[in-house]
Amino acid sequence: MNILLTGGLGFIGSHTAVVLAEQGYQVVLVDNLCNSEIETHANLELITGKEMPFHELDIRHTTALVRILKEYQVDAVIHFAGLKSVAESSTEPLKYYDNNVGGTISLLEAMKACDIYHFIFSSSATVYGVPQYLPYDEDHPLVPMNTYGKTKLQAEEILQDVARSDSRWSIAALRYFNPAGAHESGLIGELPKGVPNNLMPYVCQVASGKLPYLNIFGDDYDTKDGTGERDYIHVMDLAEGHVAALRFIEKNIGFYPINLGTGISCSVYELINAFEKSANCTIVKKVQSRRSGDLPIYFACADKAKDLLAWHAKRDLQSMCDSSWKFQANLAKNL
Ligand SMILES: NC(=O)c1ccc[n+]([C@@H]2O[C@H](COP(=O)([O-])OP(=O)(O)OC[C@H]3O[C@@H](n4cnc5c(N)ncnc54)[C@H](O)[C@@H]3O)[C@@H](O)[C@H]2O)c1
Repeated sequence: MNILLTGGLGFIGSHTAVVLAEQGYQVVLVDNLCNSEIETHANLELITGKEMPFHELDIRHTTALVRILKEYQVDAVIHFAGLKSVAESSTEPLKYYDNNVGGTISLLEAMKACDIYHFIFSSSATVYGVPQYLPYDEDHPLVPMNTYGKTKLQAEEILQDVARSDSRWSIAALRYFNPAGAHESGLIGELPKGVPNNLMPYVCQVASGKLPYLNIFGDDYDTKDGTGERDYIHVMDLAEGHVAALRFIEKNIGFYPINLGTGISCSVYELINAFEKSANCTIVKKVQSRRSGDLPIYFACADKAKDLLAWHAKRDLQSMCDSSWKFQANLAKNL
């Protein structure tokens, strides 16, 4: 089977490309490199020992997408390409709607023009908003608190309408919790441009001396140690979740929103402690006041993924920290 990955050189796309290639899928990558580096492509071919065609392309370029879908006789698309900064989405909403919603429409149009109806979408736990109960299950009300989350929800709504309009469509919207970690080779990992928005790459950059200290936004929440709790999931588990979802949509038509999380919440301090063990260092931290828009705690109900996809996360927090640090140390060596 030939699978097109949009945003295929990004953090989650690149790890999924590895797992797909190892399981015998033919992978084609497109990315406009707005948040990734071209070197990742060579590293993907090095890890897998397989050729992986790559096209530098913006997914809003529908006619170019059609050409690629035809050239490689693509059977299914996994759509990772998107902008993901919650903070930037509030200052640049048009950029986010254009890229995340407009980009998804362009891709669906190209697929329809080529009679391709199997689609996996990178959605996010941010679609849920303030927890009315926890763990979040897929029936939890969808009230995103920021523009980024709204772009993901709008894309999901479009996908649901598209699936209703034509019974050939088979679509999974995978709602990721907090991806972290890296491939065991240390050759690919999370490589944000500029100051990282996510905790793990931020901690990595403090440990390597690139950033002076880690801000802890609030240590007085009603959580196990006062810091925020999240459901961190190893990016390799997440990648395997995509392969399971691909198998599922090969056999089932319709629209399926599915959480990909571990069901376990972990505090900022717990993550730092585990990371300090991996890197054998002390992370310098400064406690700041709470940041507006941050939730104290959330985590996934992972039952639907288990039932429908026969998938669950297997790797633990320590292995996320070990692999993230290995990737960061490799980066420092190659500077
Ligand atoms: N990492 C997370 O914490 C997280 C959580 C939930 C959901 N997601 C979603 O998962 C997807 C992948 O996330 P990631 O962490 O790998 O992010 P990433 O930024 O590492 O990867 C996204 C890739 O898409 C590319 N891209 C963006 N806009 C594009 C466009 N218009 N055309 C072509 N390429 C484009 C970027 O260059 C980048 O390589 C995103 O849609 C993101 O919103 C991520």
